[in-house]
Parts: sequence; C-alpha cells; structure tokens
Amino acid sequence: MGEYHIIGGRRLCGEVVIGGSKNAALPILAAAALGRRSVIHNCPKISDVECTLEILEILGCDVSYDGRTVVVDARGMASHALPKEQMTKMRSSMLFTGALLSRFGQFSAHNPGGCELGKRPINLHLNAFRSLGAKVTEGEQEFFATADRLEGCKICLDFPSVGATQNIMLAATLTQGVTTIKNAAKEPEIIDLQNFLVAAGAKVTGAGTGTVVIEGVDELRDVEYSVMPDRIVAGTYLAAAAITRGSVRLKNVVHGDIRPIFEKFSEMGAAVTLEEGAICLAAPDRLKGLGYLATNPHPAFPTDMQPQIMALLATARGNCTIDEAVFESRDKHVSELVKMGAQIENCNGSIFHIEGVAQLHGATVYAKDLRGGAALILAGLAAQGKTVVKDAVYVERGYEAMHNDLQALGADIKFISS
Ligand code: EPZ
Repeated sequence: MGEYHIIGGRRLCGEVVIGGSKNAALPILAAAALGRRSVIHNCPKISDVECTLEILEILGCDVSYDGRTVVVDARGMASHALPKEQMTKMRSSMLFTGALLSRFGQFSAHNPGGCELGKRPINLHLNAFRSLGAKVTEGEQEFFATADRLEGCKICLDFPSVGATQNIMLAATLTQGVTTIKNAAKEPEIIDLQNFLVAAGAKVTGAGTGTVVIEGVDELRDVEYSVMPDRIVAGTYLAAAAITRGSVRLKNVVHGDIRPIFEKFSEMGAAVTLEEGAICLAAPDRLKGLGYLATNPHPAFPTDMQPQIMALLATARGNCTIDEAVFESRDKHVSELVKMGAQIENCNGSIFHIEGVAQLHGATVYAKDLRGGAALILAGLAAQGKTVVKDAVYVERGYEAMHNDLQALGADIKFISS
C-alpha cells in the first residue's frame, strides 16, 4: 500500500508545474471509446488513468501510453461488457456506460466502487438512460441496459451531478436527435469534455452554463487533444504553501478554474498574485479562520478541496464551521487529523466545527480516500515531528508522485513502498 514519511516544520518555497487533470482525463478517455483514433496529451500518470486504460483494452480498443500521451484506437472495439475488477476500483468507470450505450445501444456493468464519501447512488445516470429510451435492469451488484432505439430528449437533473452530466453527454453523442441537459454540472471538467467531443466532430454546446445541448451525429473522427491542468492538484499545492508559511509559484494553471479556491486562501490571510498561466501564494506566519465555509457545485468552493482546507483551518487562528453540502459523509480524514492534535468536532458526517490550534504534532495516520490522504500529508508538513501517512495507494490514485513535487519545494517527505 506504501506510506509517506514526513518531518514537519519546513517552509515550502519554489516553483512547480501542474500536470493534467485526473477528473478531466478520465471522462475524455471514456469518450475515446466513442470514436476512432484519439491522441490525448497531458494525461496524468496516476493509477486511475492506468485502470481506465485497462477498461479500454478489455473492451477491445488498441491503447498505447507513454506516461504523458495516450493513443486510443477504438475502431476495433467489440465488447459492451464492463469488467468487474476495474469498475469496483473507481467511480469514473460509470462513464463507460454512456459511451457504450451511445455506440452499441447496450452495456452490462457492475456497481462502481471508488472513494467512500457517502452512498453515491447512480440513479441520475440510469434514469437519464431510461429517458433516452434504454431499458435498464438493476440487479444486486450489476446493471444492464439495452435499447432498440435511442432518441434525444430533455433531461432535468435533480442535482447538478458531474458524472451524470458527463455520462449523458457521452450517451447522447451518437444518439439521433437533440438531448438537452437542464441543471447540468458547470465544473471546468465538463467544458474540457465538451471541447474534446467537439474536436472529435460531436455537436455539443453549453458546457459550463448549466444547460448542455447535444445534437447526435453518426460518427466521430480522429482527434488530438490536450487535457486541462488539474485544479485540485493546484489547490492542494497552494494549501501546502499556506500551511507551512511558505511561498510558491505554480505554473500551468487556469485562474478561473481555481478562483473559488485561492479566494478562500486570500481570506485566510495568504497573499495571492496572478501571472500569465501561473499563480503565486505567500503565506502569513499564521492563517486566519473563516468562521464558516460551505462546499457546493462549481463555481462554489469545491468538495474535492474540503479535506485540504480543513487541515489549514485546523492550524489557523480562530474557528470555522465547514458544511460539506455535496457528499453526506466526506469525513474519513477528521479522526486522523484529530490524532495529530486538531480540534475538530464531527457533528453528523458533513458538518464540522474546527477550533484552530497553534501547532499539530506528528502521528501515524491512515489515508482512507484520495483527498483525505492529501490532507494528512499537508498536516504532516506543518506538524511538529514525524508523521507517517499509511495507505498511500489512495493518494496515488489522483496525485502523480506528490512527494517528488513537495520535495522540490523543500519538504522533508519520503515515499516508502511496502
Ligand atoms: C465527480 O464525482 C468527481 N470525480 C469527484 O472527485 C467530485 O468530488 C464530484 O464529482 C463532485 O464534484 C470524478 O470526476 C472522477 P457527483 P461524481 O455525481 O461524478 C449525488 C476526487 O476526489 N448523486 O457530482 O461521482 C452523489 O451521491 C473525486 O477527485 C446522486 O444522488 O460526483 C453526491 O452526493 C471524489 N445520484 C452528489 O450527487 C447520482 O446518480 C455529487 O456527486 C449521481 C450523484
């Protein structure tokens, strides 16, 4: 599973280049299953990408990957049965169901796994497929869909689900007629998926506005595309500078994508300056609490930064209530931060009261999901003494060699494989 060994107390200083976005690359790779030959640059070298490539190969695609660029030739794709092993590893495997429905009019799949953040049902995905004309059958662990004929339609999402929005975009791409998604997610990764699909010849508009319109086409063409920078990795590294009273410069960022994040760090007393394609953060000796913070769909503060900002708030002056309004129990990191001396009350799995303390202390703690693991590393960078973050495999799902980047910024962190 691997573990990080961290000696806290070093101020992070220096410059890091941000890589491609996990949450943009995964839907784009699923979209490649719709097409012909797709060349996708700036793919992060992380285990979730590797797992996604395994799915593409099992479906019959020809895949090559040099750690940065993925080439997918989907012309030979023949299977519409999604593999259980890979589906139970990650939630984003769900996105292949929309692609398979669009391309073959059918699929068989297993209930998706992924970070345990709450129930994470798939009702919005399956009901959308039914609206398009598919017959969806749900078993205990598996579900299937067949469709004699799919027809574009209007779909209004009860919640602006990122995955459901992306899945409907994929399901509608090769489906005749016009599909309109109302109350669609507005995350930047939705725009990146639209840009990829349009580059491949699809007719998609409105991403980022809350209403996405897809006009079905008969087939896609060869495409070459570069994935957007990872806004959550950028936010995590800004947090690393903020929690260690450091000063960093991140290159290859899109200001608009990370504005909801750096604006909060400014409110906490960090000095943020924007440059062309880059951002700088210089931290104060001690951050200020926020009083109250809610996570919500974009353009609000992202849930994927909730564990990381909790680590910051745990060491800030003053208090803060965090309202995690997207997932009902994104709280597996709370008990571990408390082991390090944080004063956090977990009210009900999604409301947390934090009293900032002047100093955390090192401890042996356990990553239980991707962003929670990242938060524990941040806490270890600031803590007095040594912190061991176990089960690094969770962090490796979404961060490409995070310890190398942090070492380059001056952190005393080692990755020990085990
Ligand atoms: C995506 O997950 C991201 N994953 C998550 O990032 C992110 O936290 C989430 O969007 C919210 O921004 C990828 O992009 C691969 P949702 P997704 O559907 O699509 C409920 C990370 O750390 N819901 O927007 O699964 C759901 O239970 C990961 O990188 C339904 O009720 O998120 C949740 O409460 C973690 N029914 C809320 O919507 C459904 O059919 C938001 O989920 C679907 C979702």
